[in-house]
Amino acid sequence: MASVQHAEGDRRDFLFLATGAAAAVGGAAAIWPFISQLAPDAGTIAAGAPVEIDLASIPAGGQVKILWRGKPYFVRNRTEAEIKSAQDVDVKTLRDPQPDAVRVKEGHAKWLITAANCTHLGCVPLGNQGDYGGWFCPCHGSHFDTSGRIRKGPAPTNLPIPQYTFVSETRIRITGAPTTA
Ligand code: FES
Repeated sequence: MASVQHAEGDRRDFLFLATGAAAAVGGAAAIWPFISQLAPDAGTIAAGAPVEIDLASIPAGGQVKILWRGKPYFVRNRTEAEIKSAQDVDVKTLRDPQPDAVRVKEGHAKWLITAANCTHLGCVPLGNQGDYGGWFCPCHGSHFDTSGRIRKGPAPTNLPIPQYTFVSETRIRITGAPTTA
């Protein structure tokens, strides 16, 4: 059975897919219970099969990071304020103009799922940081908003959205990598 491992000792917003036994790393990370309901098994995941993620244990304002097919992805449970902030932006002012509505699934606006590699040179941005409350990439200073859209810094495009579906109100299945960079 695949499992999710907490990591980054002083951060509680990241989870990592791991194979075999999972172990807590760091004090604060232990606050999060392990999630072992991911399917299918680790070997199948490693081969690139779709992966299901239970959203129930991600609190409002929280986010996790998973590794799938060797790439990191963010799964964020946005607060009402974060959703409103993302929706209120004048899309015409954006470097990579995308309305928030096209970056989430209809009826599931609180859930934002993005690739977690900065579109500049691939670093993994830090959640809940930066000038726009989304992510901040410390490598060269890119700021992303609560929709994962680039707002400031060198990154050329938004954090891409992978292919996924909701299989229930609290469960998603990631089925494919982003189709755009
Ligand atoms: S890799 Fe993120 S700003 Fe350069």
